[in-house]
Parts: sequence; C-alpha cells; structure tokens
Amino acid sequence: MLKTKSKSLPLPSDDRRWQLVNATMRRHGYEADALIEVLHSVQSAFGYLDRDAIQFVARSLRVPLSRAYGVATFYEHFTMKPKGAHTCVVCMGTACYIKGTPAILNGIETSLSIHEGETTADSKVSLLSARCLGACGMAPAAVFDGEMVGKLSTEDAVARVERWTTE
Ligand code: FES
Repeated sequence: MLKTKSKSLPLPSDDRRWQLVNATMRRHGYEADALIEVLHSVQSAFGYLDRDAIQFVARSLRVPLSRAYGVATFYEHFTMKPKGAHTCVVCMGTACYIKGTPAILNGIETSLSIHEGETTADSKVSLLSARCLGACGMAPAAVFDGEMVGKLSTEDAVARVERWTTE
C-alpha cells in the first residue's frame, strides 16, 4: 500500500516528553485513526491532557479539534488537567518504580493528605502519576510544575510540595 509521507509539526516545547508523544504519532504514520492511542501516550507521559496537548495532537493528526476534545472528555480513562494551582506528576514507570517512586508518592500523599489523582482542598496542589516521563536515566523522577526533577528523594519531593502549600 502506498503511504503518503507525513511530517511532524514543531513540538510544543523542548520538554522531552513531547518526543515520546511524537514517536507514537510517527509509528502510526500520523494517521487520524491513532487519535486514542496518541492521547493515551500524552497522558502516560504528562499524567493528564490539557488544551495545548489536545490542540497539538489534533493538528498533527489532522482531526477536528472538536473530535479530539470529544474523545478526551468521553473516555473515563483520560484525565483533564487538574484544577490545582500547582501540579506534581510522579513517574510510576518501571525504572522509576524500581528506584523508589512508590515511597515518594506515598510521602507526598501523606504530607498533603490527598491521594494520587486528587487536588488539595485549598486547590493549591494536584498530585498525579505518569507511566514514563522519558527520563528513565534520571530515575526516580517527577515533574513539579513542568520542571523535570531526577534522582529525587522522598524528602526533597515532600519539601517541594510543602513549599507550594505555604505560599
Ligand atoms: S520510568 Fe520514569 S522516566 Fe521512564
């Protein structure tokens, strides 16, 4: 079968997680049919879907934005960007898991008195997990408001989120 050559659009930022998303789109030849799978890869890498990600995916796969939003909001599996002023995404991918992110996640949950997937009552912090942040060499890793932090300790992670709660 003859395949038309598709090109990738410029990535939204140099955040290496976009490369994971782009690799999924490339693997599927930037076909519109890959929409669910690509949104899934966004969620795996970022922990949630937001407007910029959905727009980027829709443009890359050439599907109407309304359809991309429709899919993102229809399936319970997808999480839209949480409402907390700050967001912490802890990687629970294999490399990070082995190096201790369950304890880190647990420490943050205890400190904030919330569970993964929740936002603190004062709406200051949302806590999420991702499958792989594309930074396995830095395991254990988490992203604090978009800043990737590797070789993370539970103490450092808890201190970072507690700083947010006292702002
Ligand atoms: S497993 Fe955590 S960054 Fe890949």
